[in-house]
Amino acid sequence: MYARLIGTGSYLPEKILTNDDLSKIVDTSDQWITDRTGIKERHVVAEGEMTSDQALVAGRRAIEAAGIDVGEIDLIIVATTTPDMIFPSTACILQNKLGIPGCPAFDVQAVCSGFIYALATANSFIRSGSAKCALVVGAETFSRILDWNDRGTCVLFGDGAGAVVMRASETPGVLATELHADGRYSDILAVPGSLSHGGIKGNPYLEMDGPAVFKFAVKALGDAAESILAANGIDKHEVDWMIPHQANLRIIESTAKRMGLSMDKVVVTLPRHGNTSAASIPLALDEAVRDGRIQPGQLLLLEGIGGGFAWGSALIRW
Ligand code: UT7
Repeated sequence: MYARLIGTGSYLPEKILTNDDLSKIVDTSDQWITDRTGIKERHVVAEGEMTSDQALVAGRRAIEAAGIDVGEIDLIIVATTTPDMIFPSTACILQNKLGIPGCPAFDVQAVCSGFIYALATANSFIRSGSAKCALVVGAETFSRILDWNDRGTCVLFGDGAGAVVMRASETPGVLATELHADGRYSDILAVPGSLSHGGIKGNPYLEMDGPAVFKFAVKALGDAAESILAANGIDKHEVDWMIPHQANLRIIESTAKRMGLSMDKVVVTLPRHGNTSAASIPLALDEAVRDGRIQPGQLLLLEGIGGGFAWGSALIRW
């Protein structure tokens, strides 16, 4: 048995923050943000809007696109670094909102590579026969863990959610996944604070050594692309679409260049979404599926990287 992706969905909160809006909050400019990152605007949640609320809309849209009944879902995995609460998991909260008690539901925490980790996990459940129809969601509310006084980080991220339905099939959909992590780099991108005895211990906001992350991401994503293609005997020219994690246009361009892929084969949503962490890949996938760029039979290469450090890739036959 293989796992096929049979439906996608996504959600972006209504409120948009442009670079010009940000230049009224911190000492920055549209020019700096555009030149260094490629980002023009990002979406942010409304007061009281939670990660599970975003996941619910994206999930329902994916279920509708898959043309299945919600009751067919027998596994829910939510990739998130910004859960509604410490526990229960956002996946359990989502399951309740979907009204389908009983099936396994859990979160995967691998920051910006979370969707690839969740997809790989769902793929293993389906291939082993432990699940037949999985809802896999990447959903984030980074606006609540950003220090809005830190221009080095608050301009980079946005909120949103993306989802896919994966179903058991005799025809291959997910051809391969590859996951990696290197905890020696845990301090270059972190929210180091924690809850302790009723208070917050340490910084509860995102901290990042931007240049170190940049360097790591460029090398790891390039290596990961080469490695998954080589392991599966696929030539890089066979890839129809690369759907990378959307963090920085310069990182995306350099990965495409190393693969010899022209940028018109890369799905880029970063200018309008910013970095939505675990949501960025399924958001981009959904956009390219719905606007007709991705066609049946095409070969997709998905790639994610983020805090941990954790990264991974997936090859998918659409
Ligand atoms: O999902 C994975 C997570 N994140 C990433 O992949 C991000 C990876 N890193 C990056 O994308 C880039 O490192 C950044 C976009 C974050 C920063 O770009 P950079 O070219 O590496 O700049 P820098 O951090 O070396 O900073 C250069 C200058 C500094 O000023 P001085 O010290 O040269 O005077 C910063 O203070 O730019 C300044 N700066 C800003 N200026 C205007 C930093 N942030 C801003 C800002 N507006 N928002």
